Amino acid sequence: MDKKIVLSGIQPSGVLTLGNYAGALRNWSRLQREDRYCYYCVANLHAITVRQESEALLKRTFDAAALLLACGVDPKRSSLFIQSHVSEHAELAWALDCNTYMGELNRMTQYKDKSARHADNINAGLFTYPVLMAADILLYQASYVPVGKDQKQHVEIARDIADRFNKNYGETFVMPEPLIPQVGGKVMSLQDPTKKMSKSDPNPNAFVAIMDEPDVIVKKFKRAVTDSVGVIAYDEERPGVSNLLSIYCIFTGMTMDEAVASFEGQGYGKLKAAVADAVINELMPIQAEYSRIIKDEAYLRSVLREGADAARAAARRTVRDVYTRLGLSLAE
Ligand code: TYM
Repeated sequence: MDKKIVLSGIQPSGVLTLGNYAGALRNWSRLQREDRYCYYCVANLHAITVRQESEALLKRTFDAAALLLACGVDPKRSSLFIQSHVSEHAELAWALDCNTYMGELNRMTQYKDKSARHADNINAGLFTYPVLMAADILLYQASYVPVGKDQKQHVEIARDIADRFNKNYGETFVMPEPLIPQVGGKVMSLQDPTKKMSKSDPNPNAFVAIMDEPDVIVKKFKRAVTDSVGVIAYDEERPGVSNLLSIYCIFTGMTMDEAVASFEGQGYGKLKAAVADAVINELMPIQAEYSRIIKDEAYLRSVLREGADAARAAARRTVRDVYTRLGLSLAE
């Protein structure tokens, strides 16, 4: 059986949040099935597009890897690795850079946002970031890329780059498809529900971290911004309540109609407490597993070494093919 390939990545650029979990990580473990093989990477090369303190970056990289294992990434069914340990990512990125237009990259909304936020460091890596991400995906011939909604545009440019390369040099890359959850694809900030929940938000009340203590989670939901209508209903004009309801659905498995019906006649306080409860219920075992794994450095290192070895073998095949097609290898 030819297994379909799944690939995704996460930046180790802050604490991981409920948004990362709902939009991506939760799906990563669910996608591990008999008929698939998954590659999951901690995208530390992406993280250095903004300034990082090297020791802290290294620590967060290991922490992220441990948390991915705790969230259910299974090294028997997936390769879990650190992006910089597989040098083929950088090699393919360069080849793809030379097949990507400035105009395409100029349209990327994340580039526009990030260059506004880091105006003192608008570096070339920030601009070509989507090409490195395309390389991550195309190296493994991935069919599926589980991500949140904010990464859709990046998967689309990966498709455009793959399509152009295939047309110019012959069938080389599998066309990837983003897998974005219906509910949870975009979890919003608890303080400004018109904005995405982000791990880089300077206000810690805006996000729930996967590793937040239960009482902190309760407090953050208690403080979540809602509105003065006072009726629990899903309504895009009322993003605060709608966001809480969506989080409730993600963590209870209820449909939106069921969730709304279950809160009939109740106030926001009840909703906030119930959401916190549901989230805590799912996160507690993950936190316990994380605490166990992070203490076992030898295990973590061996998982990452084996993950990188397996990833490298697959990535090498693609780079070899691309180099041959571009006329960069001597004929054998
Ligand atoms: P990153 O590290 O910002 O986020 C990791 C994943 O979490 C999702 N996500 C969210 N989903 C729902 N609601 C939110 N509020 C929320 N915030 C984040 C993101 O969509 C993402 O799926 N460039 C990528 C990392 C990356 C990658 C890749 C992804 C590098 N190479 C190859 C896929 C394939 C990023 O910065 O994600």
